[in-house]
Amino acid sequence: MNFIKVDSYERLSKIAADIIAAQVILKPDCVLGLATGSSPLGTYANLAEKCQKGELDFSKVTSVNLDEYVGLDSGNDQSYRYFMNKNLFTKINIDINNTNVPNGCADDIEAECLRYDKLIESLGGIDLQLLGIGLDGHIGFNEPGDKFIKGTNLVTLDPSTIEANSRFFASVDDVPTKAVTMGMGAIMSAKKVLLIANGKNKKEIVEKSFFGPITPYVPASILQLHNDLTVIYSEN
Ligand code: GLP
Repeated sequence: MNFIKVDSYERLSKIAADIIAAQVILKPDCVLGLATGSSPLGTYANLAEKCQKGELDFSKVTSVNLDEYVGLDSGNDQSYRYFMNKNLFTKINIDINNTNVPNGCADDIEAECLRYDKLIESLGGIDLQLLGIGLDGHIGFNEPGDKFIKGTNLVTLDPSTIEANSRFFASVDDVPTKAVTMGMGAIMSAKKVLLIANGKNKKEIVEKSFFGPITPYVPASILQLHNDLTVIYSEN
């Protein structure tokens, strides 16, 4: 593991964007696994700037996002598809048809999970997976539990996750209670994993995840077994 401690969110975002940029330059038709949440916003802004300056070309890139709330469609400003369109896809020259987010409004969520895994497989897997981390150690929406789940799956969100994510909604009652998330199989099969975490409130879970025992009760701890993991942490 490459653990990089930096002193600002700006620095974190710049390094993360440089790592992703290097991936795109080295393999222009790469598959990027992307994340939502507040942590990647600075990274995405840096990538958009590089692309707008003509330094980076996303025209051959395919993306697969980690997760989506059940019941929120692309027009809902709290859906992760909306987030990605707004914060990244409309700001870079990626072909929108090559961007993928699980469909949280599918009639048959189980079939949607299988479709998503098949899609990732058909793309040849993920070259670089970007991750944030939840306060309870979740990655994507893989919540703590008694086992690691391999495939894309339907999850019931932990009350602490609902509470944490309620800051983006009008009220806690508006936060969906379920989500579709990529499982640990696709994440762990990614050739490179880049996890970004910032803020004093993430310090404890970052320590537990990367320097504590590997346990499904701290989902991100499985990443200790990945052979190309970079973690960037800023306390500020
Ligand atoms: C959500 C997302 C995660 C993300 C987490 C942390 O629950 N499903 O992918 O890592 O939030 O978000 P933030 O970066 O805002 O702390």
